[in-house]
Amino acid sequence: MSAIRLLLDCDPGLDDAIALALAMASPELEVTGLSTVAANAPIDTVTANAEKVMGRLACRFPLFQGAAKPLAITVRHSTDVWGGDGILPLAAPQRPAHRMAREEFIRRAVDADVVCAIGSLTNIAELIKNGHRPRRLAIMGGALGRGNATPHAELNIWADPQAAEIVFASGIDITLIPLDITRTLIVPADMTRHLAQSAAAPARLCGELLPYAGSNAHPAAIHDAAVIAALLWPDLFARRRGTLTVTTSGGEDGRTHFAGDAEGPHEVLTEVARDALFAHMQRRLCGEM
Ligand code: RIB
Ligand code: CA
Repeated sequence: MSAIRLLLDCDPGLDDAIALALAMASPELEVTGLSTVAANAPIDTVTANAEKVMGRLACRFPLFQGAAKPLAITVRHSTDVWGGDGILPLAAPQRPAHRMAREEFIRRAVDADVVCAIGSLTNIAELIKNGHRPRRLAIMGGALGRGNATPHAELNIWADPQAAEIVFASGIDITLIPLDITRTLIVPADMTRHLAQSAAAPARLCGELLPYAGSNAHPAAIHDAAVIAALLWPDLFARRRGTLTVTTSGGEDGRTHFAGDAEGPHEVLTEVARDALFAHMQRRLCGEM
């Protein structure tokens, strides 16, 4: 069976880094490109973070530096919400990542089997506005219950609600992994220690970064890794079909809504087998499965 070709649109971000490490450790997946978008931190910071992580994982695919600000509202970052500067504590790479121009980014985003969007949705909305449609989107974002950027909104959607509105209304096949299940994914200390002692680069990188989870604008939970895990091990998740919409103005802007409908265009993951997910992740990152 050929590998699933994916483009990662992200805002590294400690949990974005864990997601990329898991993807790079998984032969079922082929990462064909990475694009950055400002959400966790300003675009220069998240792009420099992406280069550091790509260097540690010996990634050979190209990097596209995407949107520095949202479509319509004033830019707002995790660093504004949680404090810190969002810089990942990693050395700069020996060689910078190969940069791709916008035309190449568009080509790879449209050609991928799935675009994994784990930052704000600005880059994805720009593609759609210009007539370029990814085949499928796997998105970490939204909260059907309490948010994390505000009581009503999850950070990736809050960072650019107008972009989310365009993406949700696009008719593109979407799987959404919301905060409601990802907020429980806080890696146990013994797993972090096991990863840090591994000879495998993806595991060692995760073991080195995880002690910083929950500090310097990095979330405590590894939210984004759930998107990659859902591609690898779909049976670990429960899901519902329906229709997603988003509030784009007022004090609850960025709030996501989900109307259940068996014929709906969207799939929302509703539960995760957390312990099994961590066991799979640990073995995969360490090259043991
Ligand atoms: O709410 C969690 C999301 O916001 C994750 O993608 C994390 O990286 C931050 O971007
Ligand atoms: Ca992210």
